[in-house]
Amino acid sequence: MLDDATRCPVSDWDPYEDAALLDPYPHYARLRDMGPVVHLSHYDLYALPRDSSVRFALDNWEIFSLAKGVLLNDRANEGASGTTLCSDPPEHTRMKDVIMRPLKPAALREHDSHIKGEARSLVASLLQRGTFDVVADLARHLPLAIVSRLVGLPEVGRQLMLDFAPASFNTAGPMEKERTRQAFEVLERTWPQIVPGAAADVQPGSWLAGLYEAADEGAIPRDKCATMVLDYVGPSLDTTITATVNAIWLFANHPGQWDLLRDRPNLIPNAINEIVRLESPIQGWTRYVTRDVDVEGVTIPAGSRVLVMFASANRDERRWDAPERFDIGRQGVAQHVGFGRSVHSCAGANLARMEIAALLTELLPAVKRFEIIEEEREVNNIVRLWKRLSVRAVQ
Ligand code: HEM
Repeated sequence: MLDDATRCPVSDWDPYEDAALLDPYPHYARLRDMGPVVHLSHYDLYALPRDSSVRFALDNWEIFSLAKGVLLNDRANEGASGTTLCSDPPEHTRMKDVIMRPLKPAALREHDSHIKGEARSLVASLLQRGTFDVVADLARHLPLAIVSRLVGLPEVGRQLMLDFAPASFNTAGPMEKERTRQAFEVLERTWPQIVPGAAADVQPGSWLAGLYEAADEGAIPRDKCATMVLDYVGPSLDTTITATVNAIWLFANHPGQWDLLRDRPNLIPNAINEIVRLESPIQGWTRYVTRDVDVEGVTIPAGSRVLVMFASANRDERRWDAPERFDIGRQGVAQHVGFGRSVHSCAGANLARMEIAALLTELLPAVKRFEIIEEEREVNNIVRLWKRLSVRAVQ
């Protein structure tokens, strides 16, 4: 169906149904075939499923604004208001400069040997066992052990992060879904215990302490510190955990690619990009449209919400050769949008890459094959999470 006024194809598909969240790719392909913009009538949401339309939105923040939030409901957007993600330049530029201080490659190098050491001892103990759950035993370890310590969270907060992180992504969905409403309850229970209540409780030298130092320098207002903790805590855990599980799942299903990586470990950075392209952890965030805009012949009216579909764009057959093929040697794969693009590109991509690379580096020489024993996904509004992935590591 085509809307006469906007020239926009219309679909009544619900991306937040369980079945769609568990297996979105056939739906994404159908949407991409309908056009660069598809009006999802049930939510009055303009979906951007193609690589070209996603790039256009990411490159034009003045039109596709984040300052009114990137989530689907008002309550969640109010909660995330004032974070780096949910802001526009020039305020965004000041905040991003501050949150990036510990996340730049030069600053992260300081933690390189610690991350590698943690990966080495973790992989050694898992290989002794032979079979393990990639989610609980492998993928969660580094984000929990390292990131939460660097951020400077209290011990109790670290454990609660496992409840908080998926719930924070679930709050981004439509309020009509039970999983969205329940997620707010989890956030209210866990958040006050995750973050230190006052600046005096913040661990010296931590990333949180860095926020307060930036406030003392006048780089950001002091009342921003408590909000900007969310920039470190919210997106750092389940994204990286999911990408790590996806890596093992893809290599288990494509043993030839694992053999190739064992022969050529220098392909690890390209392999990580291919993993994030093919199985993008973040399916999509929204934007608020500030003025009528023409996207490849379709008019999106001012005041609309658009859904920027990172995961669909990364499988767009108009952009990628054989997009469903897992190919760790793929040329130009660094151009994927799985870490976003332009001013809001992922602040933690360097760290996520370091963590995944450290684990793969340890697994490569020892493991000949990953054999999947059992796998189960977890339904989430934004991230394609895993509940478990039990594997046997054949040595
Ligand atoms: C594989 C792991 C990760 C993936 C796939 C991922 C994905 C993304 C994506 C797609 C965006 C852009 C959102 C948009 O434009 O709407 C983003 C932004 C962001 N990410 Fe990540 N992320 C990952 C890991 C991390 C980590 C480890 C951290 C923190 C330590 C982090 C912090 C952020 C922040 C703060 C932003 C907002 C940046 C801005 O608004 O300028 N992410 N991420």
